[in-house]
Amino acid sequence: MLLVTGVNGQLGFDIIKELRKRSIECLGISRGDLDITDKNAVCEYISKLNPECVIHCAAYTAVDKAEDEREICYKVNVDGTENIAKACKNIDSKMIYISTDYVFNGKSDTILDVDGYKDPLSVYGKTKYQGELKVQALLSKYFIVRTSWVFGINGSNFVKTMLKLGKQRESLNVVCDQIGSPTYTVDLASLLCDMAISERYGIYHATNEGFCSWAEFATEIMEKANLDCIINPIPTSEYQSKAIRPLNSKLSKKSLGKSSFSLLPKWQDALERYLIELEG
Ligand SMILES: NC(=O)c1ccc[n+]([C@@H]2O[C@H](COP(=O)([O-])OP(=O)(O)OC[C@H]3O[C@@H](n4cnc5c(N)ncnc54)[C@H](OP(=O)(O)O)[C@@H]3O)[C@@H](O)[C@H]2O)c1
Repeated sequence: MLLVTGVNGQLGFDIIKELRKRSIECLGISRGDLDITDKNAVCEYISKLNPECVIHCAAYTAVDKAEDEREICYKVNVDGTENIAKACKNIDSKMIYISTDYVFNGKSDTILDVDGYKDPLSVYGKTKYQGELKVQALLSKYFIVRTSWVFGINGSNFVKTMLKLGKQRESLNVVCDQIGSPTYTVDLASLLCDMAISERYGIYHATNEGFCSWAEFATEIMEKANLDCIINPIPTSEYQSKAIRPLNSKLSKKSLGKSSFSLLPKWQDALERYLIELEG
């Protein structure tokens, strides 16, 4: 039995779908089923269920809001993760912790290795990194999987925002100097299921293949969706946001290959399949 937290979010939703497709016994839980910040409840719930692996997708993910809600973000992403890790330790189960490119400062122009220098710039990034440290300190049977620019059917994301605005506006200003990789939850979910049934523990980066800027991503969305909206590339310095985001989010996927996990398809291919899924 596999337990997935954050089932009402983008990623958790598609992991449960993938596990069911593979006929793997699983349970997806939401905040209503279990508040991960409640230490005793987490311990009791997981001990009782006794899963072989917990895929921990629940998180405080409102990156800008987190700058004003430090405490709650910390409580969910650090304490909540620690609670899950401790519960996994008690029953000797595996844990998969989903982390983020925001653990890096993105100031260099190199492709970022899994063990590269961590210097998160935002409250959200800091708490996700501290979550990683909790997992590493408590467990040996863990996977830490850093992903980026996630889009899936169940929730709001950049693609959905662009499609909505693309229908309403003739042009849009989009940041062109943050470079990273979009990630389709369906593709990531498949990899995470492969990991969950393996013992190839470690720290991994997992995104769709290829790098682009948000402006290039937006241009591709407009083209593939046949929308006439023109994308004007602008620098980050001209875009107001509370949280500071890394400019370079190019994650190295070498560790996946080394452990014989498959790389995800190219992001353009993923976007095409996502647009079909949205239509359906
Ligand atoms: N989205 C991205 O671009 C991105 C990029 C890199 C990494 N990640 C990481 O990937 C993972 C999945 O992201 P996502 O986009 O699927 O996130 P999401 O759609 O925001 O879903 C997160 C889920 O966590 C649940 N949650 C929040 N606080 C909780 C609590 N105290 N107890 C139990 N559940 C709680 C939320 O439940 P409610 O709906 O009830 O609030 C929500 O359904 C997260 O760990 C995130 O940090 C995401």
